[in-house]
Amino acid sequence: MSETKKLYYPDRAFSKKARIKNMCEYEDLMKWAKEDYEGYWGYWANEKIDWFEPYSKVLDESNAPFYKWFTGGKLNVSHQCIDRHLRLRKNKAAIIFEGDRGDKQTITYLELYRNVNRFANLLKNRFDVKKGDRIVLYMPMIPEAAYAMLACARIGAIHSVVFGGFSSEALRSRIIDAEAKVVITADGAFRKGKPYMLKPVVDTALEEGCECVEKVLVVQRNHEDIVWIEGRDYSYNELIALEDDECAPERMDSEDPLFLLYTSGSTGKPKGVQHSQAGYILWAQMTMEWTFDVKENDTYWCTADIGWITGHTYIVYGPLSMGATTVMFEGVPTYPDAGRAWKMIEEYKINQFYTAPTAIRVLHKTGEHEPEKYDLSSLKVLGTVGEPIDPPAWKWYYEKIGGRRCPIVDTWWQTETGGHMINPLPGATPIKPACATFPLPGIMAEVLKRDGTPVSAGEQGLLCITKPWPSMIRTIWQDPERFKKSYFGEIEKDGKPIYFSGDGAIVDEDGYITITGRVDDVINISGHRMGTAEIESAIKKHPHVAEVAVVGKPDPIKGESIFAYIVLKNADDTFGEEAELVKEINEVIAKEIGNIAKCDTIKIVPGLPKTRSGKVMRRILRAIAKGEEIKQDISTLEDPGVVAKIEACVKG
Ligand code: WT7
Repeated sequence: MSETKKLYYPDRAFSKKARIKNMCEYEDLMKWAKEDYEGYWGYWANEKIDWFEPYSKVLDESNAPFYKWFTGGKLNVSHQCIDRHLRLRKNKAAIIFEGDRGDKQTITYLELYRNVNRFANLLKNRFDVKKGDRIVLYMPMIPEAAYAMLACARIGAIHSVVFGGFSSEALRSRIIDAEAKVVITADGAFRKGKPYMLKPVVDTALEEGCECVEKVLVVQRNHEDIVWIEGRDYSYNELIALEDDECAPERMDSEDPLFLLYTSGSTGKPKGVQHSQAGYILWAQMTMEWTFDVKENDTYWCTADIGWITGHTYIVYGPLSMGATTVMFEGVPTYPDAGRAWKMIEEYKINQFYTAPTAIRVLHKTGEHEPEKYDLSSLKVLGTVGEPIDPPAWKWYYEKIGGRRCPIVDTWWQTETGGHMINPLPGATPIKPACATFPLPGIMAEVLKRDGTPVSAGEQGLLCITKPWPSMIRTIWQDPERFKKSYFGEIEKDGKPIYFSGDGAIVDEDGYITITGRVDDVINISGHRMGTAEIESAIKKHPHVAEVAVVGKPDPIKGESIFAYIVLKNADDTFGEEAELVKEINEVIAKEIGNIAKCDTIKIVPGLPKTRSGKVMRRILRAIAKGEEIKQDISTLEDPGVVAKIEACVKG
């Protein structure tokens, strides 16, 4: 039997102690959810959330697709993540931090409580932050980033974390869109042993159009050469010691926004995905418990950055809401060598390890035998996220890291879903390699055709979620119409608009779901989502560029790489070397978006393949980038001859 067809069953001893022990239990939960959807979710909300005041209704569908969950309920997410654990876990490690340079810190739940309360008091009393105000975080991976998020949650402010790799322009547009009152940053951070600066990026971002920002709070990590603006910039290190370590948690409504997180779409500028309080924290905690099956004395490590949803849900909110110990790592797993991650697993006796397929491929390639040098026997569950994992990477992860003992939970979800949606349960699901398997209990996922009918086994279709779920996106910040159009505008089932993820998937004869990737104009580079439209509009800022089309090209390490076709304004332009132009274009991208969006390939072409109505045929461009033969009918193009010319440019 080929490796990918084989089923990998959970270990019996593990299953016995797991929260969901077998497929019968899984089926029972699913049956319950199908028969009594509100009863099912209401049960879990009562079981898991420490309510200040009970909710009155589980699900309000009256203004679909603007669904409301647990309406009337009052809670506080920082109380759920910290205060309620103090009785039993006050001296338990909440966060274990390891910096790029090997510096270490352990923060207990009691210390976390004090730090978050001081932070909350600082924001509330000194910066006059009120419930509903937006706070932008532009932070490295340091414990203060988690304190800041939880402090916002404590006082009811809405945080919007912007990944530290985004440029000042990208930061500026997010600050403006959210109309943020405060920006929290650090002077700088470290990567591969070298310092890099963050505060100057904030300074540049705030130069124009950010009048909304009143204060900037800077966590100082001893980087020099910081410029301070009187009356605007404040040192966290100086102020925090003055604050009281008690701050009463704000009574938040279930549906008050908890945070915004900007993500790329297939068109236009990034959208501010808005999440709520109760539904989000409920599912963050439940998925943490079900997917990773973390036990009281376990140590759990997710390698994501808090700038992405994975960092929000599975470094901060999920682990802390269940009272777990979460590891926060500033560095990269290949520095100082490709054994860094394995060394940390040995040292901290990590029990659950969660990372992206790209990281696995890089570690496999750069240090195939590194894992052998370390004791990885503490590991119980391995996870992947962000992109499809390929069978060779899966096999290495399973054999060399998990020692053939640990189930691999391949988790499919999105910024918009808030938490896991489709993945194996480590104690129950027989796993097929590189397959997300089944929806979690309570999640109604289906693979459909455009007309809303199910695909047959083995046929590719569109991955949809047919019922609302508690941690779902509530709206796009300031743009409810775009929310409706982006997610509920394409597919209907039984006459009702349903959530369409933008991903394609295949269901096999056993009902297993395999994700095939985006079917829209979004590319996935190393598990990071980038809209082609966004990269294109950045490239268009270069004065010599007339037209541009960006596509994803399969890449053995990154999953996809960015491939741009560019038409110059004046073909005879004595612009100079093509290499020089390529460099300049990437500089423009780095300035507008950040280094993560730089193109791997840029080809200057005489024209783009367009239909008579002017639509760029990206499928043709994707095929050319891959070096594939063109199978599409090109006779309907405005200029069919352009295809051969583009092919010649790419090959030449
Ligand atoms: C997109 C969401 C979910 C947190 C990280 C990314 C792709 C995500 C998987 C997986 C195949 C996956 C999808 C999805 N994706 N997980 N296990 N297998 N593809 O969050 O930036 O919102 O991106 O990532 O294409 O739509 P995101």
